[in-house]
Amino acid sequence: MMTTRDSFPLIRAIADRVSVRQFKPTPIPEEHLRAMLSAAIQAPSAGNRQPWRFLVVRNPGLRQRLAQAAHGQSFVAAAPVAVVILADLPRTESRYGSRGTSLYALQDTAAAIQNLLLTAVSLGYGTCWVGAFAEDQAAAALDLPSALRPVAIIAVGVPAGVTRARERRPLEEVVEFRD
Ligand SMILES: Cc1cc2nc3c(=O)[nH]c(=O)nc-3n(C[C@H](O)[C@H](O)[C@H](O)COP(=O)(O)O)c2cc1C
Repeated sequence: MMTTRDSFPLIRAIADRVSVRQFKPTPIPEEHLRAMLSAAIQAPSAGNRQPWRFLVVRNPGLRQRLAQAAHGQSFVAAAPVAVVILADLPRTESRYGSRGTSLYALQDTAAAIQNLLLTAVSLGYGTCWVGAFAEDQAAAALDLPSALRPVAIIAVGVPAGVTRARERRPLEEVVEFRD
């Protein structure tokens, strides 16, 4: 019997996505990177301000510095690509003030990141969303102006081995219907 999971590619990609932390060194064709980035910029954003920037870091020395900034998470350097997502704070601040910088810019970039992850999975790549890093060290490594806040580093590559899905809290625990 066809299940919902089989019939809808998006639902399958959502179910298949897991955080991958072991990668083959296989390079990623630019066409695939562009597909992931094109999906990322389709995300909704407050007032359609699109306050995102993406640094596609293929340079091994830079990836090494990002891994150091990420408290030694060495898979950031081992993956062939690390995409750094930046929030362009003045783009939202000019319209929304502090709510823009402290909330919308982070929601907007997070939505873009999730699109990127799901597209990567549909193309056969593994990803890991890395949020634990010293922002000042990442900013220094990438020579960022202060207006651009690095919000995440996404390691992307062909998975080496199989990663087991982690458990989720049941719907009953997190959902409440109010009719
Ligand atoms: C905001 C955020 C920050 C994260 N930071 C890290 C990180 O620094 N290092 C890491 O290995 N995983 C990181 N993760 C991945 C989570 O550990 C992972 O998504 C979670 O354990 C659920 O596992 P799954 O992605 O395989 O479903 C982060 C995820 C998010 C959303």
